[in-house]
Amino acid sequence: MKDNTFYITTPIYYPSGKLHIGHAYCTVATDAMARYKRLTGCDVMFLTGTDEHGQKIEDKAREAGVTPQQFVDSIVAAPRGVLDLWKLMNISYDRFIRTTDGYHVSAIQNIFKAMYDNGDIYKGSYQGKYCKDCEAFWTETQLADGKCPDCGREVHDAQEEAYFFRLSKYADRVQHLLEDTDFLEPRSRVHEMVNNFIKPGLEDLCVSRTSFTWGVPVDFDPGHVVYVWIDALFNYTTALGYMNDQYHDLEKFWPADVHFVGKEIVRFHSIIWPAMLMSMGLPLPKKVYGHGWLLLDGGKMSKSKGNVVDPYLLSERYGVDALRFFLLRTFPFGSDGNFSNELLINTINVDLANDLGNLVSRTTAMAEKYFDGKLPELRQADYALDQDLGGMAGSLRNRYEEQMEKFQFQNALEEVFKVIQRANKYIDETCPWALAKDLDANAPRLAAVLYHLLETIRICAVLLTPFMPDSCHKIFSQIGALASAQTWDSAGTWGVLPLQVQVNKGEALFPRIDMSAELEALEQAAQAAKQAVLPVIELEPQSREAVDFDTFCKSDFRAVKVKDCQSVKKSDKLLRFTLNDGTGTDRQILSGIAKWYKPEDLIGKTLVAIVNLPPRKMMGLESCGMLISAVHTEKGEEKLNLLMLDDAIPAGAKLC
Ligand code: ME8
Ligand code: MG
Repeated sequence: MKDNTFYITTPIYYPSGKLHIGHAYCTVATDAMARYKRLTGCDVMFLTGTDEHGQKIEDKAREAGVTPQQFVDSIVAAPRGVLDLWKLMNISYDRFIRTTDGYHVSAIQNIFKAMYDNGDIYKGSYQGKYCKDCEAFWTETQLADGKCPDCGREVHDAQEEAYFFRLSKYADRVQHLLEDTDFLEPRSRVHEMVNNFIKPGLEDLCVSRTSFTWGVPVDFDPGHVVYVWIDALFNYTTALGYMNDQYHDLEKFWPADVHFVGKEIVRFHSIIWPAMLMSMGLPLPKKVYGHGWLLLDGGKMSKSKGNVVDPYLLSERYGVDALRFFLLRTFPFGSDGNFSNELLINTINVDLANDLGNLVSRTTAMAEKYFDGKLPELRQADYALDQDLGGMAGSLRNRYEEQMEKFQFQNALEEVFKVIQRANKYIDETCPWALAKDLDANAPRLAAVLYHLLETIRICAVLLTPFMPDSCHKIFSQIGALASAQTWDSAGTWGVLPLQVQVNKGEALFPRIDMSAELEALEQAAQAAKQAVLPVIELEPQSREAVDFDTFCKSDFRAVKVKDCQSVKKSDKLLRFTLNDGTGTDRQILSGIAKWYKPEDLIGKTLVAIVNLPPRKMMGLESCGMLISAVHTEKGEEKLNLLMLDDAIPAGAKLC
């Protein structure tokens, strides 16, 4: 029997902060793949979810002053949380798993116990390094300059009684899987895994922790919680009902057809995951595909770095479909890609507004203008021209399919856009507006031209549906394509639209964007967003170092009156004060406060100076003492206020 099911997964996300378009990238790709497979007639299971346990979450919750469960709930289920974002991005997942779901927790306990019973998990003592951010154990030799080789952050010593998984036992089988099968793609990632992790010797993996509690408890040994990656990886099976009664789809959908994962977690998915499945006697997933990162200014976009791009902002401005399309059209899925607003706007303008949008609006406008939206049935072919376009569009599905089956979204879209560009050229070659000048004579030819354009649009729209579902449905209604003209079969067939097709020109699908105005608006929005998360007032922490009373008393603070104040030539920081300090001799003090005060505003004021500091030269001028001010940070900006006294206080009065 032909296997008609398709099971695809995304990584389950850590709800430790806001999701950004880096996360949306993988989920949009998975969604496009799932929609494509449904289009081709597969029975699809698309799983996504959240990975809610681990030390990082426990720490974040403590910082926020809430329980870990409250903390994850506030990110997963809250407005603008994970679930909300997937709704916004039109993600058609079939199932959503949270690793805090009761059925998953008890399934993980069963799985852990089963591996303990079969001898693959044993108790020992762990000593090594741990990266909290990646929730990953490292040996000294794996560190990069003493830091975590994955994220570059500090690692900490970890020493505790722990359970271990006999990963070493599976080294040969995993190496064979990676080297001799198509299990892991792109192929370039295989060498990295084998050379960096397997060849140096695969050590047994620490799979329990005792130093924190936010995890699945090991039920037969209180105090231990299951290592978060075991808990996380098995989600792909527990969500189908493995070791639990919540669902009953394991037989139908397992093994997964493909796990899409970011390149930094390929190691977990291509070494640890198959080994654990081998231990449990489960079939292995057919494929793990490690996609690249979206970069911003050359670095990985990541919630902990804060250099993220907000998908809400972008989809509010350009529409969800444009954003989805951009992500998959612009970057090859297996490689890293540099995000920029300019690239986004350019893609929208060139591909969507110019090529696709124009084709649809010109075609439907002409059908309305010349034939009131209803093409006459009489046709007159131009064999060479028509067949060139028709042939290209009619065979597009095969070329597209070939690329989609390899997850080469960019190439699949390139094939579609070649046809769209060909169709725009066909308009220029056939000059429908010239034909329309003598409709009595040319109606059959004009109808043939428009029909060719509509059919080409239809085929392209069917194949674009996985990427831009809403926009393609608008296109279908504009060109009069009924449900039967939107199917996978119909995309491989020329001439599916009825001869008397009814066209309805609608609104423009993708309005052109004014690049420079838009870049400025985006920059402003980004600044505002940055400002919004900055604390209102930030203070220098109080000094913990004690100063003894006698030392403190040595500092001589005096009230001083400003006789004169000037800016210092060639310095944009310094002001030069001439002060009455009550001694009868003028005192000169230089102060780096030009950013906050105009010199003329300070004349006559009563300030505070420390007068027994040794004199210092600044910009060739002598400064005898220091003026005292109050400093703080407001919304990220440094603020300074000179200490000013009541003018009734005479010059020279001692402050004590
Ligand atoms: O890794 N570009 O969760 P996560 C592309 N809980 N992809 C990116 C990205 C970027 N800038 N930033 C993040 C985890 N991602 C684990 C998974 S699966 C059993 C457990 C991708 O929230 C990243 O590569 O840190 C990963 O695939 C996914 O987002 C989730 O990341
Ligand atoms: Mg299957």
